[in-house]
Amino acid sequence: MGRRRLPIKELRLMRAIWLEQFGDPSVLVPGAAPDPVPEAGEVLVAVEFAGITFVETQFRATGAGPFKGELPMVPGNGVAGTVTAVGAGTDPALLGRRVVSSTGGSGGYAERVAVPATGVFEVPDGLALDEAMALLADGRTAVLQLRAVRPAAGERVLVEAAAGGVGSLLVQLAKAAGAEVVAAAGGPRKLALARELGADEVVDYREADWTGQVAPVDAVFDGVGGAIGRAAFELLGAGGRMVSYGLASGEWAAIPARTAAARGVALVTGERTPAALRDATEYALAEAAAGRLRPVIGQRFPLAEAAAAHAAIESRATVGKTLLEVGAPPRAER
Ligand SMILES: NC(=O)c1ccc[n+]([C@@H]2O[C@H](COP(=O)([O-])OP(=O)(O)OC[C@H]3O[C@@H](n4cnc5c(N)ncnc54)[C@H](OP(=O)(O)O)[C@@H]3O)[C@@H](O)[C@H]2O)c1
Repeated sequence: MGRRRLPIKELRLMRAIWLEQFGDPSVLVPGAAPDPVPEAGEVLVAVEFAGITFVETQFRATGAGPFKGELPMVPGNGVAGTVTAVGAGTDPALLGRRVVSSTGGSGGYAERVAVPATGVFEVPDGLALDEAMALLADGRTAVLQLRAVRPAAGERVLVEAAAGGVGSLLVQLAKAAGAEVVAAAGGPRKLALARELGADEVVDYREADWTGQVAPVDAVFDGVGGAIGRAAFELLGAGGRMVSYGLASGEWAAIPARTAAARGVALVTGERTPAALRDATEYALAEAAAGRLRPVIGQRFPLAEAAAAHAAIESRATVGKTLLEVGAPPRAER
């Protein structure tokens, strides 16, 4: 979050979560932060829900990952809420709109955040704000991986962490594309959820030799990496595709290009252009609004309990998306 110098009499405060040092979840501490003021081209969002991704727990722990920020900072990369103010030169028609937006990596665990107007997504009618929040990052990520792999109807695909935020959406998207879905996850509760979401087969990769229980597959969605990602790779044959988009295990699968080529497997990656990211997000929101994609909100925590939410995620105790409940809708909206 940028710190602005304001004369004392203008300084207004809001509730937020501070990250003062990297470490275990207890480093996330509730406190007060200066109320953001939207600058030119920005909108102010009154936050109802903030999303937490697995990557955010890794950033909090070590400072590593895609986010940057000088400590102390207010973390949080995704918000859902209502636009309550606009900066100079920003379209006033955005006022009162229900939106979701990334923050660029900081400022999300707070009552209000100023974000570029060009980066917000209006929440389609028929989609609740919390559902839109559950889809913002995870839906975009899942759609981009699906588009990289392009499963054909009837192909067998394996989804790792299939009950997680991204995984629970990938199971549904791959199924909708006509694929036969093998859901891999840890424990019976997660496997049951994957089945409910449409998986044809399930396998618990906490069991030794779990790949021995699975017939070969045409594609692997690898969000876990490490030993699980490498074992999943062994299920692929000529013409197979593997997309590695995460390292929940703490380590990328890191399949050497030569090993993949020798097997006839393509290591593919999701497109990362701003246009592709925007299109994937809009697609996920539209599919959910149309009732074809179901975001799974597994856990909700009050803003002040962000530390407990992080602890739950990194202990692998969560399913689907974890949200922070931040504020009520602005009065005019109720
Ligand atoms: N959310 C996004 O927008 C986004 C963007 C880019 C990349 N990614 C990557 O996608 C992956 C999934 O992200 P997510 O936010 O949807 O998380 P998530 O799947 O909700 O949570 C991570 C899951 O990974 C599995 N896991 C396997 N080994 C683990 C280990 N050693 N420690 C902890 N968890 C382990 C756990 O499920 P089981 O118990 O079933 O194994 C856990 O629930 C992550 O690797 C993340 O870095 C996500």
